[in-house]
Amino acid sequence: MSDARSALVLGATGQQGGAVARALNTKGWAVRALVRDPQGDKAKALAAQSIELRQGDLGDPSSIQAAMSGVDAVFSVQPSSGQGSAYGVSDEQEVLWGTMVADLAKASGVGHLVYSSVGAAGKGVTGMGHFDSKTEIEEYIRRLDICYTIVRPSSFMEMLMLPGMGLNQGEFNFLMRPDQAMQVIAVDDIGKIVAAIVDAPAAHAGRTLEIAGDEVTGLDLQDVLSGAAERPITYHRFHERLLTENRFLGRLAELVDDGRCAGSADIKALRQEFGDLMALDTWLEGPGRPLLQHALQAPVTAVALR
Ligand SMILES: NC(=O)c1ccc[n+]([C@@H]2O[C@H](COP(=O)([O-])OP(=O)(O)OC[C@H]3O[C@@H](n4cnc5c(N)ncnc54)[C@H](OP(=O)(O)O)[C@@H]3O)[C@@H](O)[C@H]2O)c1
Repeated sequence: MSDARSALVLGATGQQGGAVARALNTKGWAVRALVRDPQGDKAKALAAQSIELRQGDLGDPSSIQAAMSGVDAVFSVQPSSGQGSAYGVSDEQEVLWGTMVADLAKASGVGHLVYSSVGAAGKGVTGMGHFDSKTEIEEYIRRLDICYTIVRPSSFMEMLMLPGMGLNQGEFNFLMRPDQAMQVIAVDDIGKIVAAIVDAPAAHAGRTLEIAGDEVTGLDLQDVLSGAAERPITYHRFHERLLTENRFLGRLAELVDDGRCAGSADIKALRQEFGDLMALDTWLEGPGRPLLQHALQAPVTAVALR
């Protein structure tokens, strides 16, 4: 038996959980990954890194409770309605799961619960279900008598590479105005920050940290993406007509305008505390490179967002 401290990581086959599992593993923690399908490729890739797999599903609380048994820390993240049909999760379901994980962590005597929320949480009702759900889960966790830390990640750099933003047509269309700044973070840096937090529970108990690695305007995106793609990329904000017709995007743009979705993490202080965090250009030269190439080469039939 290893003497290493142990952590259960939810969503370990996904972006944040995967990054957290890898970073904790590197720090010498005994990592348990909650997976729905141990035979899936992503679960097998975790097992290949000596990460222990525990089969479970948020819809089956007893499987979560069993997976938590005896661990020192839990990383909690839930799928949300903001991911569209990928998981078919309602906002109520997300709240139910997020609070259930916290309850089980307390009942199981877990030493430290780290919950991943979102940058826009805790800033008043936003009208976006998958942001307000996280405010509700945060408030629930704070009321529990448990050692917790809450991280609020900004938009992921990975999200910028989703199809349909126009990169395959020499454009990039997104939420902010050309001169308006928005914060972003590389998923690997969420893993790095969370692993440091899990590793030092006393230093982070009771904290809520907004986290980001870079802050870019639309025009910064134009420069950085043109440099990385080695071809001109022109930045535009999503067209007003699109923002009117698509209320999801329209509300997000309003929340960028009022600052709540633009982000207010203290990036300088985060770098001092957690070490170097990737700026967008660094990410595009490193882990983001394959995603950029894929977005540049996508068929031009992708949905136009402008
Ligand atoms: N995208 C952004 O910019 C951004 C920014 C801040 C916060 N967020 C929030 O991040 C969260 C999503 O995190 P992510 O992007 O890391 O997730 P992700 O990559 O989409 O992965 C979702 C993970 O959840 C697991 N999962 C789905 N349904 C489950 C269930 N019923 N029981 C147990 N596990 C289940 C998936 O497992 P399988 O492999 O089995 O499907 C997968 O590991 C959302 O709440 C979103 O609102 C996103």
